[in-house]
Amino acid sequence: MDGNGRWAASRGMPRSYGHKAGVEAVRRAVRAAGEAGIRYLTVYAFSSENWSRPADEVRDLMGLMKFFVTRDLAELCANNVHIRVIGDRSGLSQDILGLIETAESRSRENTGLKLNIAFNYGSRDEITRAVGRLVERQVAAGAQAAPITEADISAQLDTAETPDPDLVIRTSGEMRLSNFLLWQAAYAEFVFLPCMWPDFDSQWLRTALDEYASRTRRFGGVTAAKDIAL
Ligand code: IPE
Ligand code: MG
Repeated sequence: MDGNGRWAASRGMPRSYGHKAGVEAVRRAVRAAGEAGIRYLTVYAFSSENWSRPADEVRDLMGLMKFFVTRDLAELCANNVHIRVIGDRSGLSQDILGLIETAESRSRENTGLKLNIAFNYGSRDEITRAVGRLVERQVAAGAQAAPITEADISAQLDTAETPDPDLVIRTSGEMRLSNFLLWQAAYAEFVFLPCMWPDFDSQWLRTALDEYASRTRRFGGVTAAKDIAL
């Protein structure tokens, strides 16, 4: 979700105005994803690296996370959305931790869209934490330790319950992954949209999905000649 600051600046407004509009766009995105039949949606709300922003902006982003969970939880639950938060919890304040736990436990039984909110999330940090746990496990197993598999690593990631993404969308025209789902996106398709995040809506989602539908995924294999349209 990139481009909140530029969206606000182009209107002569402070960055916080863009972040607020960004929350509206999250609401639209969740609704549009559900309507499009998407089963898993992961939104990158705050990265491990975002702490380096000015203190008042960090405060704004924390405040908006609280605002979103507090204001939208009932409606998300009414729409059968299952919320999970991925990222490092150890750096978060008590009030945010409490809200995250409430959101997760209240929505746990919901069978609709799985909404992952990446908050204080960085993929390298996630992998580092996962490897740390695997090392502990191996040490505890001693001579009985089995070789570590890709599945072992996937199972230790914050996304253990979520299948790898088919599609990664980044807004604002930037073409970077910025430490998002590095392991999980190994075979994802990438779509970079020119819109700023606060302008994202069901039309932009459709644009991304159409682009995705036009791609041929080979997962390192080859496309059978019969499947190539001549
Ligand atoms: C995305 O917008 C905000 C976050 C999810 C933290 P930015 O704040 O990165 O906006 P730009 O890139 O400055 O326009
Ligand atoms: Mg940005």
